[in-house]
Amino acid sequence: MNQPVTAALATAHSNIALVKYWGKRAGCDPELNLPAVGSLSMTLDELRTVTRVAPASADRFELDGEEVEGKPAAKVFAHLDRLWRLGACSGPRPRCAVVSTNHLPTAAGLASSASGFAALTIAAAGCFGLAEQLDDPTRARLSAWARMGSGSAARSLWGGFVRLDAGTADDGSDCRARPLPSPRPWDLRLLVVHTARGAKQVGSTGGMESSRLTSPYYPAWVESSAADLDAAEAALRARAFDQLGEVMEHSCFKMHACMLATRPALMYWNGATLEVIRAVWQLREAGGPVGYVTSDAGPHVKVLCRAEQAPALAAELAAVAGVHEVQRVAPGPDASLELT
Ligand code: ADP
Ligand code: DP6
Ligand code: CO
Repeated sequence: MNQPVTAALATAHSNIALVKYWGKRAGCDPELNLPAVGSLSMTLDELRTVTRVAPASADRFELDGEEVEGKPAAKVFAHLDRLWRLGACSGPRPRCAVVSTNHLPTAAGLASSASGFAALTIAAAGCFGLAEQLDDPTRARLSAWARMGSGSAARSLWGGFVRLDAGTADDGSDCRARPLPSPRPWDLRLLVVHTARGAKQVGSTGGMESSRLTSPYYPAWVESSAADLDAAEAALRARAFDQLGEVMEHSCFKMHACMLATRPALMYWNGATLEVIRAVWQLREAGGPVGYVTSDAGPHVKVLCRAEQAPALAAELAAVAGVHEVQRVAPGPDASLELT
């Protein structure tokens, strides 16, 4: 393809893993950013990134109305270089203005790197003439490219529920994401319970590398994750809500056990995180609205529940001390591209 460079706008929705990715595969090209474990996520409706990539006289990156420099900008420009190379485009890469808006908190454990790198990949591919529309093969190709920017971004190309297989090939050719059957008839919600403001201290990339190198639980985490992935997919297909919730909590707590056993310890939670988890469990045991918790590299709690119980559960959790906000989020749509 490789047409003249043009401005392109992409929207990608964030996603939260029900079965977690934590750790990169060792012994292969780090540029490929291959995960050590597969993962399964729900794409989120409101939480999304909108990114525009347009030709410019110099590279620049603007996020939420502010000029960004340093490492986050360097990662964006390196990703543009990577996409230009992967697309076998000829000549030097054109300089670009990347203007992005995160409709979610950045670097706070709500997967801004997922929506951010998915949107950047799609918009840059549009700008470089590497994608005109997001048909199935294009989406799959862009998912693999997005993964090289951030592992979780590979899942944000699709809406609904998405599975990312780790694969075993050294070239990453079998590390693929695919959408799972539509959740529409089986209406679920994810309550995003905010327990803090601001960014995390240790980013996911550095945190998971530290776990790989120092956590004695890391080998067990990797070894046991394939079974969780299959169990979660089976539960999703069978619409077995409690089975899905059970494996989702197990994956989350196993990941946090691995994080806690890292040296120095990775503790992403605060007091309110624990209070919310306890509240969800107490309600479940007491015959209240049923929710299952998960939490990522950040202090917020995400609670999976049935749509009809979401308002009651959200109201209970909003009353827990230390909770700032509870968002009721439906499964989100596919990522999209607009050439302008
Ligand atoms: P999160 O839990 O938000 O995914 P990570 O530590 O995985 O946190 O990644 C946060 C990093 O992702 C940011 O520091 C920045 O480098 C990158 N990022 C976030 N949003 C965007 C965006 N819209 N465009 C490009 N990069 C982004
Ligand atoms: C805890 O995808 O942010 O959210 O590939 O280094 O960018 P990089 O890591 P990232 O890791 C996500 C970790 C997690 C779990 C998950 O989303 O699966
Ligand atoms: Co991330």
